This record gives sequence, structure tokens and C-alpha cells, in this order.
Amino acid sequence: MTAPTADSLIAASPLPRTEARRLLEYATGQRREWLLAHGDEPLEPLVSERFLALQASRINGEPLSYLCGEREFYGLALRVNRAVLIPRPETELLVDAACELAPRHAAVLDLGTGSGAIAIAIAVTRPDLRVVATDRSSDALAVATENAAHQGLTPSRLSFRAGSWWQALAHAERFEIIVANPPYIADADPHLTEGDLRFEPRSALASGSDGLDALREIASGALAHLVTSGRLIVEHGWDQGAAVRTLFLRAGLQDVHTQPDLAGHERLTFGRAP
Ligand SMILES: C[S@@+](CC[C@H](N)C(=O)[O-])C[C@H]1O[C@@H](n2cnc3c(N)ncnc32)[C@H](O)[C@@H]1O
Repeated sequence: MTAPTADSLIAASPLPRTEARRLLEYATGQRREWLLAHGDEPLEPLVSERFLALQASRINGEPLSYLCGEREFYGLALRVNRAVLIPRPETELLVDAACELAPRHAAVLDLGTGSGAIAIAIAVTRPDLRVVATDRSSDALAVATENAAHQGLTPSRLSFRAGSWWQALAHAERFEIIVANPPYIADADPHLTEGDLRFEPRSALASGSDGLDALREIASGALAHLVTSGRLIVEHGWDQGAAVRTLFLRAGLQDVHTQPDLAGHERLTFGRAP
């Protein structure tokens, strides 16, 4: 039997061509251009076995980003594994908002940083800012630290703290901008057992019976860590805008408003410290 080639594996794959090609790039360690130029050459048996194993995991539903260990966010290639949420395109809006609102040389806090996506994108886009990022998961912080180093971000530009929400910070620490994309799905939501979400850490997704536990804690503690006129900006579910605005107003925040995402869903809520 002749050894399979990249072209024959892609043609025989039940996966969409782009996915099969990406897995093959990963299995061969080669770029797309190489695969196009050498697609008709026999592959090493180990390489085709690796591809077939990856293909089987993908057919089983495992997200492509976990299989390849990488996800693009805000134009940056970030390492991801099953300890972190796969950064979502809609979260790029939170980066845009923070970069737009942050005064020069401001201090920015990213609560629940996961892969470090938001904090790293802000630090890369605005080199004048000093960014602090937290997470309760030490495994997530290990991924974020590696991603930051890969982007050449030293601790003076982006530093990480371990701990649950505000407990990760010193009592007197204050910021001009605080951002968070916390877990916001209700514990019993059936989506948690479907699609990509099945493979992502539950602690990154679910947050109490109404999905608002983390947002409640973040809103209620924000004033103690914002400078005068500092901003809190959070991402939330499409149907949580009204509830989050209420949490922000109860916490004493002003100018509270919500911005829709590109699909028109309420996605980001903003508040300002008096
Ligand atoms: C929805 S993920 C967001 C990750 C990343 N910021 C992003 O947008 O891709 C929420 C993150 O919050 C973290 N987290 C959950 N509970 C936490 C807590 N009590 N304190 C700090 N971080 C927490 C999770 O570990 C996870 O990394």
C-alpha cells in the first residue's frame, strides 16, 4: 500500500477542508505553503498517524484550537490549552473599549485573564499602559505568563496575580480602567454540555444559578479599586444587560450603559466611578 500524502489525507477527511488542512499543518509542523508545494509526496507514517489521531479527536468535538494549542486573538497568536477559555472574537470589543478609554500611562486591571488574551492585547496595543491581570486558576496563569513572554511583555508592563477576584489585589491598589470577561453562564444551562463548551473549563464558564455570581462580586468591589472617574467595563451574556446595569448602579457606578456587539446583542456594560 502506498503511503498517504497530504493531498490524499485531506481528500479522504470527513472534516471541512480548512480544518483538515490546519490539523495537517500541525501534524507535519509545516506551514500551508509547504503543504501546497509538497502535497503529493508520501508522509512519514508517524505524521499520518498523528493526523488521524487529531482528526478522530476533532470528529469527537474537541475544539481545533485545543488540538493545535493555538488561537488568534486581536491579531496575536496565543497558546491555549484545556486550562483556559478559548478567546472569542467578540471579546476584541472589550480590548477596543479599554484602549480607547484609557488615559496615557494609566493602570489597567484585567480580572479573570485566562490565556491572558485581553491583558496582552491591551498591553501590546498601548505600550504606555501598565497592566495587571489576575486569575484564580494557577494553570491559566501559567498559560497567560507564557503568552505574555512570547509577546515580549516584561512584568513591568504586564504582571500577573493569583487569587479570587478582588482578593488577588492589595487593599489600596487602584486603576483607571478595570476590565473583565468573567464566567457568566447559569450553572444549569444545557449549553454547558454542548459543542466546544464541553471541553472548556467549567470554572471559566459557569457562575451560579443565574450566571451572575462573578459579575455581582466584580461590580460590588469595583469602587474600592477605581480611581476617581475610573471605568469598569465587563463582558456579559446577550440577555444580561439589564441585570448588569442594575448591579453597576447599585454598586454606585455612574454613566452606566451597554454596548451591543457586531451581531447587535448587548455585550459590554460600562460604568464610571464618581
Ligand atoms: C470567561 S473566562 C475569560 C478568560 C479571558 N479573560 C478571555 O476573555 O478569554 C473567565 C476566567 O475567569 C477565571 N475565574 C473564574 N472564577 C474566578 C475567580 N473567582 N477569581 C478570579 N478568576 C476567576 C477563570 O479561571 C477564567 O480564566
